[in-house]
Amino acid sequence: MEPDHWHQRWQEGRIGFHQAQPNRWLQQFYPDLLLKQGEPLLLPLCGKTVDLTWLAEQGHPVVGVELSAIAIADFFHEQQLSAKRSQQPPFIRWESNLITLLEGDFFHLTRDDLPPTPVVFDRAALVALPAEMRQRYVTHLTTLLPAGSRILLVTTDYPQEQKIPPPFALSDEEVHTLYGDHFDIQRLHTETLTMGQDPLSKRGVTSLVERIYKITRR
Ligand SMILES: C[S@@+](CC[C@H](N)C(=O)[O-])C[C@H]1O[C@@H](n2cnc3c(N)ncnc32)[C@H](O)[C@@H]1O
Repeated sequence: MEPDHWHQRWQEGRIGFHQAQPNRWLQQFYPDLLLKQGEPLLLPLCGKTVDLTWLAEQGHPVVGVELSAIAIADFFHEQQLSAKRSQQPPFIRWESNLITLLEGDFFHLTRDDLPPTPVVFDRAALVALPAEMRQRYVTHLTTLLPAGSRILLVTTDYPQEQKIPPPFALSDEEVHTLYGDHFDIQRLHTETLTMGQDPLSKRGVTSLVERIYKITRR
């Protein structure tokens, strides 16, 4: 899943991953993150998710990182926000009150681009990446997050042979392999989805499990 893949998808409007409503697991498990008033969040590979708006409405500054200028422009347009654009090399920074979107490659992000201890919400970011990139993603995230940082992670698991990824199926075992060395992992919930409800079932997937984790940097 190289940048060209994603740029093309945004150009063609192939964004089946986008949800019109704030993510239900974010809303349900937001209290488990024990966020302080005004504590900042990072949403890697954020697309044009309305989770950014929902978190800002809870009073949190949010930073999203996204390759596609189309996604970012759509986000601010659809949310009826006007964004100020500036250079933050190698990123273009789009900012409107509590919401900042960095246009560019997540793998170029440094600690200097972020508030000191961001809390991460990962929905459809890790699972958007193939195996070798998942390891790179977690390694990079590890360098960005100081001790005590928390991640709320939503994963998708299904028989991988039933659908061409993304999303990639992610087992509980792999989550432990990826994060276990530097993070404490708490599985908050496992949901077996009723098939027919989820868009993936229309694409031939016969069983689908979502797992939600709270992952804390040691
Ligand atoms: C599956 S979508 C999920 C978007 C969002 N998290 C959501 O829940 O709707 C993955 C997004 O990551 C973006 N992306 C992929 N690789 C990236 C990278 N290396 N840096 C920044 N964004 C990236 C894509 O353009 C795409 O919008």
